Amino acid sequence: MKGEGIKVLLVEDNHGDARLIKEMLAEARGNPFDTECADLLATGLEHLAHGGIDVVLLDLGLPDSRGLDTLVKVRAQALGVPIVVLTGLDDEALAVEAVKEGAQDYLVKGQVDSNLLGRSIRYAIERKRAEEALRQLDRDRMKSEFISNISHELRSPLHAIRGFTKLMLEGKVPQPETQKEFLSIIDGQSQRLGTLIDSLLDVSRLESGRFSIQKQPLSIGDIIHKAVESFCRLASDKGIVISEDIPATLPEIEADGERVSQVMVNLLSNAIKFSNGGRSLIVKGEAKDGELLVQVTDHGIGIPKEAMPHLFERFYRAEDLMARGGAGLGLYISKQIIEAHGGCIWAESKVGKGTTVSFTLPLDQVGGDSHE
Ligand SMILES: Nc1ncnc2c1ncn2[C@@H]1O[C@H](COP(=O)(O)OP(=O)(O)OP(=O)(O)O)[C@@H](O)[C@H]1O
Ligand SMILES: [Mg+2]
Repeated sequence: MKGEGIKVLLVEDNHGDARLIKEMLAEARGNPFDTECADLLATGLEHLAHGGIDVVLLDLGLPDSRGLDTLVKVRAQALGVPIVVLTGLDDEALAVEAVKEGAQDYLVKGQVDSNLLGRSIRYAIERKRAEEALRQLDRDRMKSEFISNISHELRSPLHAIRGFTKLMLEGKVPQPETQKEFLSIIDGQSQRLGTLIDSLLDVSRLESGRFSIQKQPLSIGDIIHKAVESFCRLASDKGIVISEDIPATLPEIEADGERVSQVMVNLLSNAIKFSNGGRSLIVKGEAKDGELLVQVTDHGIGIPKEAMPHLFERFYRAEDLMARGGAGLGLYISKQIIEAHGGCIWAESKVGKGTTVSFTLPLDQVGGDSHE
């Protein structure tokens, strides 16, 4: 007999306890519970893998798993399924920890009766549903924030392009030099639109799990050198000298060349954009403690302390009175790229003195050509 058909998975290795709980469930008002039992974590996980379980009653101390680890494994197997932890009197502290770690409730064995058990199960299911609903709301909010950010970022170059095009079409710019100047603004803004769309596509790939890296053996020295070269013109226009400090003997690494170049381009573009002209910029590479360390140091405006924790967030820009453009995506994307390679990226900065952004890439990478 299944009643409302709430399918309970009871994972309990003590047969006496298991039997008692099963009986309480059978006695519950309306007899809504349909119980399956497992006395090992492994068996419990198998049941969960088959699906259809509405709630798990979980003893954390099992022959093949103990403590919070048991909870973590069960949760990983069935993310949407609520868990009620069964605990002894002496283990209540652990059960409280388990609730902090995502279990919906806990019950002390020996202090439960059929009513309490039934109520706790229903409460766990309701609570899990509410949590999921909140999470969905959060996702929706982030999505709409994202779209409004995108629209805003796309609009400003588009405004400039339309504005200058209109002036020229209306014949309001007869002088060839001014025409040329306007055309180069239009050209610049179209490029900005292009870069922005590329960044947005990267973010969308990252967030939908379609972002992959293709590793190949490569020389980081070459990558740095090419990236620096591509900025020489812009840097010298701004009176900035870029110097490279890279030993000729750097070992090869296994990495996605295009993606690592993208990181270099981001860091150099930031360093130039936030330099205050006439200053030097240093790119350093070295092999250290089994890792490759790359550092880009500028002597520009620096980053306020309160902005530091947010630098690598999507769409984040520190308050910049000069409004230097940029969508605040470069560092976010760079971080995802470096982490997909198993490396780290971080920044150190002093307002008015300058900034160093560093990243590492592991040197001992073997095999594997794709990674999400
Ligand atoms: N070298 C730097 N010096 C000072 N501030 C920096 C530096 N690098 C990054 N920042 C700050 O961090 C913010 C985020 O950088 P990020 O590269 O993610 O975005 P962006 O350069 O503004 O835009 P995008 O890279 O998408 O074109 C910047 O807007 C800036 O406020
Ligand atoms: Mg940037």
